[in-house]
Amino acid sequence: MPHQISKAIVPAAGLGTRLLPATKSQPKEMLPVGRKPVVQYVIEELQASGLNQILIITGRRKRAIEDHFDPDPVLISALEQAGNEALLSELSYIQRNSRFFYTRQSSPKGLGHAVALGADFVDSEDCVVALGDSLIAGEEPAAALRAMMKAHRDLKAAAIVAVEQVPPDDVHRYGIASIQGAEPPPGEPVAMTDIVEKPQRDIAPSTLAVAARYVFSPAIFEALSRTPPDHRGEVQLTNAIKLLIQMGQPVYAWLLRPEQRRYDVGNFESYFRTFIDFVLADERYGYLARQYIKAKAYEL
Ligand code: UTP
Repeated sequence: MPHQISKAIVPAAGLGTRLLPATKSQPKEMLPVGRKPVVQYVIEELQASGLNQILIITGRRKRAIEDHFDPDPVLISALEQAGNEALLSELSYIQRNSRFFYTRQSSPKGLGHAVALGADFVDSEDCVVALGDSLIAGEEPAAALRAMMKAHRDLKAAAIVAVEQVPPDDVHRYGIASIQGAEPPPGEPVAMTDIVEKPQRDIAPSTLAVAARYVFSPAIFEALSRTPPDHRGEVQLTNAIKLLIQMGQPVYAWLLRPEQRRYDVGNFESYFRTFIDFVLADERYGYLARQYIKAKAYEL
């Protein structure tokens, strides 16, 4: 049986300018969504998918991410001495069986450039890429990635790219995939015939937007090295995937199931939506939040 995928790259080096001033001195990946920072959800999803070697691509003003995953013996012994089991268990995400690696993207030259920095870490193996500012919701957030990894192995794919339907007015914000046939069935790989970075609505090949989770063979690094920067000087991951397709490599889209919705924390509108939905679904505080919002809605 081919090797199990164990490595993931988490790009988290973007400037987050759309979230200023909140991101002036802290990474957007550390903004809280309910009780946890965004990137903790991403790492827990990767851990639950069996990925135990995680490379986070960081940059200037991103130190807080490393600190968050670094065991803190002083804090832990203080909590132990106080007998505070509840808070100790809140820190258990650090103890899980994974190893963290970090590398810095000194200037944000695009998502493709960030992923390419993981080439030596991945070292000719298959790998997962999960954006550090995007969450997958649902009862079991890792289910999609696990199924994508299995399909990647079974199909000997070069890439499997999670996608979701977006309103036609939003296609200019995303990489948009073109597939064989019309509406793809959710939770299955469908051959991708093209992919376009942030197209205008009238030339978009579909409304299937790339949704922050990818499984790649090492061919992606070859494609990235041959992908020129765009007009803004950024190397786009989408353009490298397009090149994979043009090279005749097997590339698939994977439509997320409706309950596996992707949330991104890239702008305030989607950050607020994410925060509200996750708080309402929180097992400990969701009830109180729902009561509060009902009362507020009544006042409005
Ligand atoms: P975005 O496209 O949201 O870009 O990145 P950004 O630079 O973070 O945000 P704005 O446009 O300035 O508001 C999507 C993901 O890719 C990472 C980001 O950290 C985020 O997780 N990224 C983006 C990099 O790691 N490096 C880059 O050069 C660009």
